[in-house]
Amino acid sequence: MEAYLIDGGRPLDGVMEIHGAKNSVLPIMAACVCCAGTCEIRNCPRISDVETAVAILRHLGCRVERRGGTLAVDAAGLARCDIPAKLMRDMRSSILFLGALLARCGRADLVLPGGCALGARPVDLHLQAMGRLGARAEQAGDRITCRAGALRGQEFTLRFPSVGATENAMLAALGCRGTVVLRNAAREPEIVDLAQFLRVLGAQVSGEGTDRLTVQGGAPLHGAAYTVMPDRIETATYLCAAAGCGGDVFLAGAERRSLEAVISVLGRSGCQITEEASGLRIQASGRLTPPGSVATAPHPGFPTDAQAPVMAAMLRAAGTTGFTETIFENRMRHVPQLRRLGADITLYGRRAVVRGVGTLRGADMEATDLRCGAALIVAALQAEGESRVTGVPYIRRGYEALAENLRNAGAAVTLQNE
Ligand code: UD1
Repeated sequence: MEAYLIDGGRPLDGVMEIHGAKNSVLPIMAACVCCAGTCEIRNCPRISDVETAVAILRHLGCRVERRGGTLAVDAAGLARCDIPAKLMRDMRSSILFLGALLARCGRADLVLPGGCALGARPVDLHLQAMGRLGARAEQAGDRITCRAGALRGQEFTLRFPSVGATENAMLAALGCRGTVVLRNAAREPEIVDLAQFLRVLGAQVSGEGTDRLTVQGGAPLHGAAYTVMPDRIETATYLCAAAGCGGDVFLAGAERRSLEAVISVLGRSGCQITEEASGLRIQASGRLTPPGSVATAPHPGFPTDAQAPVMAAMLRAAGTTGFTETIFENRMRHVPQLRRLGADITLYGRRAVVRGVGTLRGADMEATDLRCGAALIVAALQAEGESRVTGVPYIRRGYEALAENLRNAGAAVTLQNE
């Protein structure tokens, strides 16, 4: 079994590279289906979720080629609108092909998407949005069938600002006659990135980053090149590694603007984070002050994806930190794993109370989802002696060259292939 071997307990010092955002490139890849020309996606990360999206695009009849960090997608030859169960279940973002296929072909035959097990992850908001735009969207067992004679512009409100449902609605809106106005839309930076990509293709989108998004359907889309935003959760993970271990790390390519909530927490705990021309620098003493309570919320609140890594950074803080998960019902699965290192964490359902301990000791741990994996790595880097982290395929879903990146900052991390 593959495992990361980490000899922890040393400060980090050096330069790490931030790649293109997973949660941005996946909707952008789905959006390529709506365009008959060639889209060049620059800064495309080498992660397994991107490979899954490539396999889906090729299955649909698109030509996809990678040249270095650029992915070229040509959907001119799109020949089908079904996605096999195996590919759908490899990741959550496969559901974004629903809106894209509906816009392009007026139909989609899918099954429920997979992805990390964080509790119930229904798709009712996605299906409701398709319904509001005039499609017949049905779920029978795990099969999703969507048909639309003509999609029509509509104004409607999402019950919750779901990131995925907002993206699906934006994509389906491209195929609508008339104007789509989406209220209570998600405001995440990745929504802004998708809107910018769609505009580069010729779509008329406005209001991204606010809770009222507008798309004028029916504009012809042409091929274009676009550079994906830097990954804010990869950035947050490495900031947490440096915060927990102490040291001086430069994150090349990182941006501050999408990360204020995380930077504010790390700043309150004593880290110095400064933005420079080409990235972010973090300086930390290795002994943090508890930042107070942290509760996840839709953007611009504290991101659910950063909850586990920030908890891992606070395991040795000088006092108590509370974490409340409000987005997903089962997103504390890192807690029992972190206890193996000697962490003092009490769990009350979706709330965790972390009492800082003087020392963590290396242990064997198993990642059970992507950000759980990130947290285990952040914790193992602080633990004295050797740790072994399995569940590597989860981590590969979202982190390019993790071991190499950490080694460039002086960490002793190797990926063992057995
Ligand atoms: C969520 C995060 C996003 C993160 C991504 C990957 C939020 C608001 N969203 O996006 O920032 O990048 O995970 O980890 O933090 N829901 C429904 N019905 C639906 C869709 C969602 O009830 O049809 C519920 C979910 O069960 C969950 C909440 O809405 O409680 C958030 O879901 P959503 O934003 O859709 O999740 P993702 O798009 O996966």
